[in-house]
Amino acid sequence: MNKKNILISGGCRSGKSRHALALGQKFTGRKVFLATAEIFDDEMKSRVQKHREERSDDWITIEEPLDPLAAILKEKDKADVILLDCLTLWVSNLLLKYDDEKVVLEIVNELLEALPVLPCSLMFITNEVGGGIVPENKLGRDFRDLAGLVNQRIAEVFDEVVYMVSGIPVKIKEPIQQNGAGNKKSTHEFSKEKKQGLYEAIYQRRDMRHFLPDPVDPEVLGRVLHAAHHAGSVGYMQPWSFMVIQDPEIKKRVADNFSEASREGAERFEGERKKLYESLKLEGIQDAPVNICVTCDRNRSGPNVLGRNTMLEMDLFSTCCAVQNLWLAARAEGLAVGWVSILYPERLKADLGIPDSIEIVAYLCVGHTESFYKKPLLESAGWGKRLDLKDLVFYDRWESKECDNPLLLPE
Ligand SMILES: Cc1cc2nc3c(=O)[nH]c(=O)nc-3n(C[C@H](O)[C@H](O)[C@H](O)COP(=O)(O)O)c2cc1C
Repeated sequence: MNKKNILISGGCRSGKSRHALALGQKFTGRKVFLATAEIFDDEMKSRVQKHREERSDDWITIEEPLDPLAAILKEKDKADVILLDCLTLWVSNLLLKYDDEKVVLEIVNELLEALPVLPCSLMFITNEVGGGIVPENKLGRDFRDLAGLVNQRIAEVFDEVVYMVSGIPVKIKEPIQQNGAGNKKSTHEFSKEKKQGLYEAIYQRRDMRHFLPDPVDPEVLGRVLHAAHHAGSVGYMQPWSFMVIQDPEIKKRVADNFSEASREGAERFEGERKKLYESLKLEGIQDAPVNICVTCDRNRSGPNVLGRNTMLEMDLFSTCCAVQNLWLAARAEGLAVGWVSILYPERLKADLGIPDSIEIVAYLCVGHTESFYKKPLLESAGWGKRLDLKDLVFYDRWESKECDNPLLLPE
């Protein structure tokens, strides 16, 4: 069965679990049952036991009441399908632990953000808890509202939503046909696994500022620079060079350059924003075992470059393409990269002996890391948020949203 995320909702005893298990038969690979229930009393114990007996032996059970994302990420490459039973209990466990709806929603969002990189299918079981009378206490009302909100978020991004009524599945959301009539599927597309790898590198790439002192394997770094060197460039100019910096003396000078530039940068902000700026970690120059300065030789192919007559910065942009290749290849190799631009370029040129005619495009810190940030550090720190892609896509005219055939943008 093709990868698909299915939400199965309904009231108590409406046949949700039975339907999910029946759907599970369509998956031929490893099937994981992710149980979020916590057993506090005998009644719960016998309910859980009953559910267990309903499952065939080909389901592997994992119990995880609070952090199903961790279990999903651990299983994602092995499992064909992961069935989470159930969302409502998970939300209830989180609400009891954190007593804060915002925290719960953030945790749910983290799970949703991981969806694009999951190669396996997901089935989530949930409950429609809002259909009855208004709960008499505040915790009950908060839980009801939160459970409804979480259901909405999951239903929005999952491919298919089924509502169970008296044991009968009613499909209330169908997967969008991406390759319907007129939308020709390319015969040149990569295999599912290869595409998955590429998208994983893209979505899991992070600008990193925390490094371990462990050395970087020269062979691995060689591959990463080789990937950088295969970027597109205007007129096939390949204007880049890569200075690999490991001398602690030089790194110290660059770190001093950063400190001064950053102090000056902080002065451009005021009040809370300034305080926040000063609390941010914005470089790992001396911690990273390797620094790489990527430069652009604007005269590499002489003054007349094919394609650079009217847009003169194209050689600089080409060098940025090389940096992006480097960043993605490094992520695939498990290496962390952090871009530092808070530097006085002339001083950096002097410290690295770079001639005047050469432009510095990127100063990168490269090394191993304990763990990759799940989201941009500036987002976690509350400095900025990812913009909504749909606000950035226009059709035919600047800022026009009108289109007969609009794109299907993933959430
Ligand atoms: C051209 C460029 C310059 C950057 N300069 C810095 C910098 O000086 N210090 C820093 O901490 N991050 C720097 N960054 C990293 C950005 O802050 C980071 O890319 C952004 O917050 C998004 O996070 P992500 O890369 O983890 O997705 C730079 C990124 C780019 C592309």
